[in-house]
Amino acid sequence: MSEPQNDKLIRKIKEKCRGQFRINESLSKHTTFGLGGPADLFFLPADLEDLATVVPILKDADLPILPLGGGTNTLVRDAGFRGVVLCLTAGAHNIAVSENLVQAGASTQVFSRQCQRAGKTGFEFGCGIPGTIGGAIRGNAGAWGGETFDNLISIRGLNLKTGNDEAYKKADITFAYRRTSLSPDFLIVDATFQLDEGNPETIQETMAQMLSERKTSQPLSNRSPGCIFKNPPGTSAGLLIDQAGCKGLSVGAVQVSDVHANFMINLGGTSADDVLSLIDQVTQRVQKVHNITLEPEVRIIGEYGIENKTLETAS
Ligand code: EPU
Repeated sequence: MSEPQNDKLIRKIKEKCRGQFRINESLSKHTTFGLGGPADLFFLPADLEDLATVVPILKDADLPILPLGGGTNTLVRDAGFRGVVLCLTAGAHNIAVSENLVQAGASTQVFSRQCQRAGKTGFEFGCGIPGTIGGAIRGNAGAWGGETFDNLISIRGLNLKTGNDEAYKKADITFAYRRTSLSPDFLIVDATFQLDEGNPETIQETMAQMLSERKTSQPLSNRSPGCIFKNPPGTSAGLLIDQAGCKGLSVGAVQVSDVHANFMINLGGTSADDVLSLIDQVTQRVQKVHNITLEPEVRIIGEYGIENKTLETAS
């Protein structure tokens, strides 16, 4: 986009919208990996009304739009993103457990905890999953045998290409392990879940067990996007990478974790390019040792959008 076009767009957004607006915002501040170049524009709508105002403006400007949740499961390239990042964490994070309703920008962990307090069972697995509900739905995030689509009923959102409201029942969406058929042009706004009545104490015990296992088996004190690769059918990517001798392997200051081999940790001062080289090295080693091609779970964002779009993984 040329500078005058950019200025016109910025003026219009500032005039009509109430949310926070930033120019050349480094996406390293908005991803759990702590990596990535700047987004031309970064907008946090103040609420759903504000979102409904900004989307037609962005659509008219014909700019690539990237929905971003908690920035987990995401690797932004060093060149950043030539478009607008739309982030719902500030203006669409309400949770109404009694109505089984949750907005897309809500934290998955907070939703899980509120379900526990209200004695709703079925979302325990979310207690240790970072990121937002929108991202969890998009990539059917899961852990400990549970996944987001298990208890999902419906979602509502906006089509970023047409600006129209759209709603889908679970039956309208194809989903599988860490995969959904949702278009990258669809911005999830809220969702309903069907959760059964349960005992808050029992739910709490299950969650405590999950969190403690997570603490010992994953490098939670380091910056990472979560698991890098999807588990191939019937096996674990972490196990395969470990057996291929990749633990501790590094490029620049990104390293295959010694705690869990399907995590890459940012030790500080590394780049997205380093991570991509390390992903290549690990993929090649696993291919050589096991004859299995690992597929990234992490969403790779390039200058013009999601590069591994067919994956539709969690954000
Ligand atoms: N293992 C090793 N070495 C390692 C890592 C794992 O030998 O470095 C072995 C473990 O000992 C275990 C097996 O591999 O026998 C499976 O490991 P784990 O139980 O940690 O499960 P995982 O399949 O590696 C999955 C999800 C995690 C989720 C955990 C717990 C994927 C790619 N990973 O990990 O999700 O937290 O189960 O439910 O589906 C994520 O999606 O970002 C993620 C971290």
